[in-house]
Amino acid sequence: MVLDPHTFMAKMEARMDFSTADKELLLSNANWGLEIASDMSDHFYSYMGRDPEMGVILNASEGRVHRLKETFVLWFHEMFTGMDNWGDEYADRRWKIGLVHVKIGIGPQHVVPAMATVVHEAGKRAIADGKSENLRDALGKICMIDLAFIEQAYIEVSSTAVLKETGWTEGLFRRLITTGAGAM
Ligand code: HEM
Repeated sequence: MVLDPHTFMAKMEARMDFSTADKELLLSNANWGLEIASDMSDHFYSYMGRDPEMGVILNASEGRVHRLKETFVLWFHEMFTGMDNWGDEYADRRWKIGLVHVKIGIGPQHVVPAMATVVHEAGKRAIADGKSENLRDALGKICMIDLAFIEQAYIEVSSTAVLKETGWTEGLFRRLITTGAGAM
């Protein structure tokens, strides 16, 4: 059940219809992406800081928010540059980001609204700066691909841990999930 980030990236690109035109548009706006990254980071962490659960996690260690604000800027800019044309390096980086969040215990209920904030704030800024709707679409797509990596990491890590601990087969595990869902 362990995920191959490269195959997953290709699947998400196809599923999201993340096209060459989207990539070209993001690349040609990479400087703008970097320009607004710091403001986006401020919005992001002040939003998270207002949530009691996320606020506790963010302030759990000295200097964490400061460090996170810097990593956010890099992450945000990478969505525009694509690192290696949104290839293996990009996929490996996104997978690692997913694993970091699973380790800290951050689940879908935290990550989905957080990514929605990014899409919303970046969209507002794009309109204010006179950017095209196509750019907003392209950015929305890559945000959703990044989100899929973080969400999938949560599922992959928890399923792998259960299988390892119990010795169950994947088939049995899936049947238990289906039965459990049916009983709810
Ligand atoms: C849109 C969703 C999110 C993105 C794009 C994002 C991005 C990142 C990135 C790039 C890193 C650095 C990973 C590394 O070390 O390689 C990171 C780490 C981290 N993130 Fe997030 N994050 C998101 C959501 C969240 C949420 C909802 C929380 C909840 C509080 C959170 C808390 C953290 C923490 C605590 C770390 C580790 C900080 C440390 O090194 O001490 N993140 N995140």
